[in-house]
Amino acid sequence: MLICPKCQKPLYFTDKAFQCENKHNYDVARQGYVNLLLGSQRMSGDSKEMVHARTHFLEQGFYEPLQNKLCELLERYAHACCVDLGCGEGYYTRAIAKLCEQCYGVDMSKEALKYASVHDKKTQYVLASIFHCPLASESFDAALNIFAPLPESEILRLLKDKGVLIRVIPAERHLYEFKQRLYEQVYENEVDRIDNKQLKLMEEVRIEKSIHLLDAQTIYSLFQMTPYYWKTPKAAAEKLKSLSELETTIAFVIQIYEKNA
Ligand SMILES: C[S@@+](CC[C@H](N)C(=O)[O-])C[C@H]1O[C@@H](n2cnc3c(N)ncnc32)[C@H](O)[C@@H]1O
Ligand SMILES: [Zn+2]
Repeated sequence: MLICPKCQKPLYFTDKAFQCENKHNYDVARQGYVNLLLGSQRMSGDSKEMVHARTHFLEQGFYEPLQNKLCELLERYAHACCVDLGCGEGYYTRAIAKLCEQCYGVDMSKEALKYASVHDKKTQYVLASIFHCPLASESFDAALNIFAPLPESEILRLLKDKGVLIRVIPAERHLYEFKQRLYEQVYENEVDRIDNKQLKLMEEVRIEKSIHLLDAQTIYSLFQMTPYYWKTPKAAAEKLKSLSELETTIAFVIQIYEKNA
């Protein structure tokens, strides 16, 4: 299922490394992920700081309803072979991997994949761009794309005919009260749909609930997971550090698309 990023031939596992018939060789890291990024590709995945923040937040179970719902949905569709595109530290990947025969997680952040591959030995984690996936065409029953950039043409290439894309994006009210702590004027998120004849929307599922954060570190970790971390003026970000409690809405949209050739 893995293909060589240099010559696109299949890769085979040979004692601690992957190799193609042209003898291009890719070592598997101590933690278990394989680096298939070519030297010319710039690494631009999430930093160590962002990965630690996300791990600290997610491991407390605040997004567990989403993790459970994704497993429940995936069970209804063909899921023998799955790929998580932009898998981060594998919080959702390792849950869905339990349902699949083969599972791959692709991300450009080495720090995220170190964590992911230590905590999940079933999935093969791959350091690569999701816009140039070193994975064989038309070989996946399901692709997941959760809070990550959408590589539409790669998804179409990777999925089998009638394979499904499970996409998760923030719903309108996601983190609304949290944003009110940062900005004077707060807008709801825009929810879009993929406009592509080959991807038919089969189902849209929404999850909305309230979470109660009870310490400053967790509130700041949530902040570091969001795009607001980059956009917020320093003074507002500093003010957030003094908050010791916060109740906020979490709201997700899960869209399931079927690929039609
Ligand atoms: C907001 S995080 C979501 C991670 C995970 N899906 C989750 O929800 O916990 C977005 C992820 O996409 C990855 N990413 C962004 N651009 C990428 C690219 N071009 N190729 C591979 N990964 C990318 C980042 O490194 C990061 O781990
Ligand atoms: Zn090769």
